[in-house]
Amino acid sequence: MKILGIETSCDETALSLIKSENGTDITVLADKTLSQIALHQPYGGVFPNLAKREHIKNLPLLLAPLLEEAGLACRATPEGLAAEKPTLDAIAVTVGPGLEPCLWTGITFAETLAEKWGVPIIPVNHMEGHIMSALLTKIKDKSAKHKIKETRFPALALLISGGHTELVLIRKEGEYEIIGETRDDAVGEAFDKVARLLGLPYPGGPEISRLAESARMNMSASSADGLHPLPRPMLHSPDYDFSFSGLKTAVLYLLKKIGEPNEETKIQIAREFEDAVTEVLIAKTKKALEQYGAQTLLIGGGVIANTNIRRAFERLTKELQITLGVPEPCLTTDNALMIAVVGLVRHQEARRIKAGTLKARGNLRLGEKI
Ligand code: KG4
Ligand code: ZN
Repeated sequence: MKILGIETSCDETALSLIKSENGTDITVLADKTLSQIALHQPYGGVFPNLAKREHIKNLPLLLAPLLEEAGLACRATPEGLAAEKPTLDAIAVTVGPGLEPCLWTGITFAETLAEKWGVPIIPVNHMEGHIMSALLTKIKDKSAKHKIKETRFPALALLISGGHTELVLIRKEGEYEIIGETRDDAVGEAFDKVARLLGLPYPGGPEISRLAESARMNMSASSADGLHPLPRPMLHSPDYDFSFSGLKTAVLYLLKKIGEPNEETKIQIAREFEDAVTEVLIAKTKKALEQYGAQTLLIGGGVIANTNIRRAFERLTKELQITLGVPEPCLTTDNALMIAVVGLVRHQEARRIKAGTLKARGNLRLGEKI
């Protein structure tokens, strides 16, 4: 089975072509991502209409070399759309959640190709893609070969990205129940907003992470522990919900009080902020893991690139003796491989549809029917 994955929910335009004989061993035939980070940097965040324009421009530009690299029989037209039908079984496309103008570009592209090539479409929930990314392991030394790890159920997924913070209970394969989520800002959004307050560039997550790590390496900064204490929002609330906007506001008030921070103060605040976020994520996830007797923890989304958070979850799952699944570094951010793999797992849901049938669903939730 060969599947084309298409991802355009935010600021990455991504296409991936995978092949699998048995549904668990996967060969990546070709995989391409164009990130728009540099383009959105001056705005301090993703500008939806600019992102949409870029996706429309980039999708055909990526398709022709993707098909060529994958060795699929086709001939690309000047627009990049293949005129001949390549040997393909289905097209998996992200329909939500995400920025609707962006989602529409992927959907329209998928429908056009599906009609042209006469192949069915599998609509994919982007968040299921992030869960799947935590289940993929590279087979040693063969970078193109991946395997979908077996999961012990019940499993719990923690999704931490720029748009989401969710705890998801997975009682069995493909059955998702959101048991907790953020009531305001997503965790990645909090990283980005705090970074902005500290005068750091977008996206702020990697910047804060870099400063916080340097605080941990640096004795003088760590001896400043407790100098700028920040709250741990909802740490002891009886539910599994999160709230990060208060943490951002606390940083804002702190900066109002102390004035323009010097490099040393920025480092201390970055570390304290990261510690606060990590503590809350760990406490809530631990409670849910114990409550539901979860055997596996899967973590997906851009924020799991954070070293401190990753290490803390490695310690937690070791302590609880459960399996931890985290994506390889290249799969933490948005990519089309994870979308193609959801397509593979859900290939029975592939449908032949007329162009104009699928809808972008900006607020699509896990567990909702697509
Ligand atoms: O999953 P993702 O690529 O896109 C969304 O679907 O949102 O996540 C992007 C988010 C951004 O907020 C970015 O600041 C954050 O992930 N991020 C990090 C790190 N790397 C990326 N946050 C904390 N530490 C990092 N190392
Ligand atoms: Zn994402």
